[in-house]
Amino acid sequence: MKILILGVNGFIGHHLTQRILDTTDWNVYGMDLAFDRLDRVIQHPRFHFIEGDISINREWIEYHIKKCDVIIPLVAIATPKLYLTDPLGVFHLDFEMNLHIVKQCVKYNKRIVFPSTSEVYGASLEPEFKEDETFLVLGPIHKERWIYACCKQLLDRVIYAYGTHGHLKFTLFRPFNWIGPRLDSLDAAKEGSSRVVTQFIAELLMKRPLSLVDGGSQKRCFTYVDDGIDALMKILENKDDCCRNQIINIGNPDNECSIRELAYLLKQIFMAHPKHRDDKVFSEIIEASSDSYYGKGYQDITTRKPNIEKAKRLLGWTPQIGLEEALKNTVYAFLEEN
Ligand code: UGA
Repeated sequence: MKILILGVNGFIGHHLTQRILDTTDWNVYGMDLAFDRLDRVIQHPRFHFIEGDISINREWIEYHIKKCDVIIPLVAIATPKLYLTDPLGVFHLDFEMNLHIVKQCVKYNKRIVFPSTSEVYGASLEPEFKEDETFLVLGPIHKERWIYACCKQLLDRVIYAYGTHGHLKFTLFRPFNWIGPRLDSLDAAKEGSSRVVTQFIAELLMKRPLSLVDGGSQKRCFTYVDDGIDALMKILENKDDCCRNQIINIGNPDNECSIRELAYLLKQIFMAHPKHRDDKVFSEIIEASSDSYYGKGYQDITTRKPNIEKAKRLLGWTPQIGLEEALKNTVYAFLEEN
């Protein structure tokens, strides 16, 4: 199989590429702006990389969509702070650029495996989110945080419509707070614009306080990237076409924890690490209002738990890695690399 991955140097892209090259005989064609996460695979004979931009290198992309069997467009802004500071950037990249890719998959009759997001469920109050039942609940327009969820939701709907009207083979997958080595760059975290796990690790390294936004009682289900990649591999294998035109949550409901619990767990893991256990000072854990941390355009999601019955049924998959192991692996990888 020939797989095209746009955004191959990103968190999901580089982990997926590594797994494909390690466990299959497939070829990966990848594009990204950078290649700092790709040192383990860049020389691999079945990995074909080009440094490029999806809004510029359109001919390369069209040629490779034509040539490949499965297209995985992973280019997107996915950090909440940027939804508020650069909402139009989110619209342009996450929506417009990806719509163009979707249309080319339709033109060449290709299979697309597209990252939807846990964010599309928005502030739904359901105890568990189900792909084909849960209402998708977004806040008012001046709460700009929702532009990401809205862009992703509309793309889900467009892809679904192309699929059901016979023009596109698709699988939409919805990651729920995947974490692991090289999640976000620590440089982004130093500026405060990273997802929570990387943000907290960066603060611990810099001895700055960990901020619990609005008290930290909001919950997430953190999913270890290896589990996520296991599920994605099964989606790519697509045995008996089981994933055709399906939307699939990929998350670990057993790993639910509040952001407050997360902060204490990460601090504990950091303090026990051989490189840091003799440090003289450690970060405090403090509270911050969302207005001061993110700005007025922010609104949060109180609980976000996936129902994964569909993934279990279609893929024969269940996540294996518990929360503490997932956090420990993530912290240790960051500390080893920095
Ligand atoms: C994330 C992002 O939107 C996407 O990466 C993705 O599509 C999706 O959810 C996902 O990974 O499933 P969110 O979970 O809100 O959204 O992102 P984080 O930035 O990781 O924040 C998690 C929670 O921690 C939020 O409640 C946030 O307010 C809180 N937080 C964040 C803090 O309390 N302190 C911080 O320093 C940073």
